[in-house]
Amino acid sequence: MNGQHLQGKLVRLCSPADAESMGKAWSRWSQDMDYYRSLDSDPPRFFSAKFIKDEEEKNQEKVDTGSFFFTVRTVQEDRLIGFTALWEISWPHGEAFVSIGIGEPEYRGRGYGTEAMQLTLEYAFEELNLWRVSLFVFESNLRGIRSYEKCGFVREGVIRQAMRRDGRRWDWYLMGVLRPEWQALQAAQPET
Ligand SMILES: CC(C)(COP(=O)(O)OP(=O)(O)OC[C@H]1O[C@@H](n2cnc3c(N)ncnc32)[C@H](O)[C@@H]1OP(=O)(O)O)[C@@H](O)C(=O)NCCC(=O)NCCS
Repeated sequence: MNGQHLQGKLVRLCSPADAESMGKAWSRWSQDMDYYRSLDSDPPRFFSAKFIKDEEEKNQEKVDTGSFFFTVRTVQEDRLIGFTALWEISWPHGEAFVSIGIGEPEYRGRGYGTEAMQLTLEYAFEELNLWRVSLFVFESNLRGIRSYEKCGFVREGVIRQAMRRDGRRWDWYLMGVLRPEWQALQAAQPET
């Protein structure tokens, strides 16, 4: 990270884009079966840009202290490529879940998602003062699992055979990272 808040070398975390841009991007991403099926166990739905835009307009009016949503934009071209979200935040216990999606396919597998997750964890631990962050990932999502391990997540549990897909059943993994683990990882990283 280059020291600038919520910005790394590749991406920065931003507030939601205007509802129209979010609608167009989210609708396009929802047509991508690989993306949708990595993100969600629900059968894929192809959302129209108008549907997302209308939902987004309602969301942007709400102040919800139980979740934080970020768009992920590239540093170089300022392009909207995905999102991260902290949700189900429990303030008494200092814990939350995190979700991530790099919707633009050409930006997957190039380090953008890992950096976006690292920035989201920085926000969770440094700004929100959380103690742990959890996520669920499908057994089949090897790229996601590797990316989360690089961010300090460890596998804590297995939800056995929770998903039926492509003629077989798949496990879900519960992964989590604690603030001291994340801090140790930061301390071990060379200064840039
Ligand atoms: C999951 C996701 C956020 C990861 O972000 P990304 O930018 O694609 O991932 P990165 O390039 O930062 O890192 C991927 C790592 O997985 C590794 N990897 C890629 N494919 C792999 C595979 N089949 N098996 C094992 N490791 C794999 C890469 O080599 C890289 O590790 P390395 O840097 O040590 O070489 C992104 O791919 C995404 O949004 N996918 C679609 C939606 C999704 O899965 N969301 C998460 C649901 S839990």
